[in-house]
Amino acid sequence: MGGTDGLAGRVAVEGLVKRFGPVNAVDHVSLEVSSGEFLALLGPSGSGKTTILMSIAGFEFPDAGRILIGQEEVTWTPPNRRNLGMVFQRYTLFPHMSVLENIAFPLKMRGVGRAEREERARAALATVRLGEMGGRRPAQLSGGQQQRVAIARAIVYQPRVLLMDEPLSALDKNLREEMQIEIKHLQQRIGITVIFVTHDQTEALTMADRIAVLDHGRLQQLGTPRDLYEAPQTAFVAGFIGETNFCEGQLAQAAASGESVTVALTGGGSLPAIAAEALPAGGRIKVALRPERLRVLPATAEGTTARVAEAIYAGNATTLMLEGAFGQPLRARIPAGAGLHEPRPGETVRLAWQAADARAFRA
Ligand SMILES: Nc1ncnc2c1ncn2[C@@H]1O[C@H](COP(=O)(O)OP(=O)(O)OP(=O)(O)O)[C@@H](O)[C@H]1O
Ligand SMILES: [Mg+2]
Repeated sequence: MGGTDGLAGRVAVEGLVKRFGPVNAVDHVSLEVSSGEFLALLGPSGSGKTTILMSIAGFEFPDAGRILIGQEEVTWTPPNRRNLGMVFQRYTLFPHMSVLENIAFPLKMRGVGRAEREERARAALATVRLGEMGGRRPAQLSGGQQQRVAIARAIVYQPRVLLMDEPLSALDKNLREEMQIEIKHLQQRIGITVIFVTHDQTEALTMADRIAVLDHGRLQQLGTPRDLYEAPQTAFVAGFIGETNFCEGQLAQAAASGESVTVALTGGGSLPAIAAEALPAGGRIKVALRPERLRVLPATAEGTTARVAEAIYAGNATTLMLEGAFGQPLRARIPAGAGLHEPRPGETVRLAWQAADARAFRA
């Protein structure tokens, strides 16, 4: 199903602007999704994710910018002429129809004959691994099964692109994690382009080939999960993806992105770091340092020391709350079972890290 061939499933958003009164819901966003790619739109509530998705779907029309699907500009094309599949947060199945009738419905709307409708609906149902359940009503299915039916209904007419807006947020954690992998496998198997909205960073990291991070309608960064985690380009991305310590300070001299800098910390002392973006002289700086990138070693006379205020054991790792380094509280995370030094509360430790793991941003 779908088109992995060439450009059929490509989606391009060019300079998209959408305002609602005084609110810039989408503020000059440009991004491109390749055919067969899985892109997540990730950001906090109100960052413009749904508005971008609805503009691609044709339910919102932009104030500026263009939408292209395949080679074709569709900015003003009505939704039913865009040949996209959609799955929403809440189950939107027709309660009075059987599962199979629900899935066949879009084919009926497209004038497909009864026999072919049924055959294709059965195939789509098998694709989401619910082959035996075609005769049931939606109310007789679990939440996860209902979302699978919604997916089957969205792919039954073989759209080039599948748009999903928080489709798993109504499910409990275990089922949600199962469905994340399942949707990912389904997408790879049928080779469809997916644009998936979520505010859950773990979900985006698990599922997506690339992630577009949004804040206040602006695209902060677009990259692979690894890019975003290892090389965030803004303080927002560093704070939003994964967990991080932020140490505040100032820079005496301006620095270009990638340059080594020494940040004078507000809490006293200094911290060598890499400029993650161009930094102005004298401006406020935030240095991001991930808890698991801080190595915690037995104290020696040399180096940066800290006192362990608290040690929180969580099975797979122990989180240390540290005081006295860089003049502010810090967190460090020690993975379990690696034979690493696990200090007790009250102990003084030495901290070590790679210079490249301390990334300096404009505050
Ligand atoms: N129809 C509308 N009328 C007025 N304002 C709107 C409308 N739709 C969205 N907005 C505003 O536009 C901004 C972006 O909304 P959007 O729904 O795209 O965010 P979102 O990232 O999907 O958030 P959430 O995670 O809460 O779903 C918000 O400030 C929202 O209040
Ligand atoms: Mg939304």
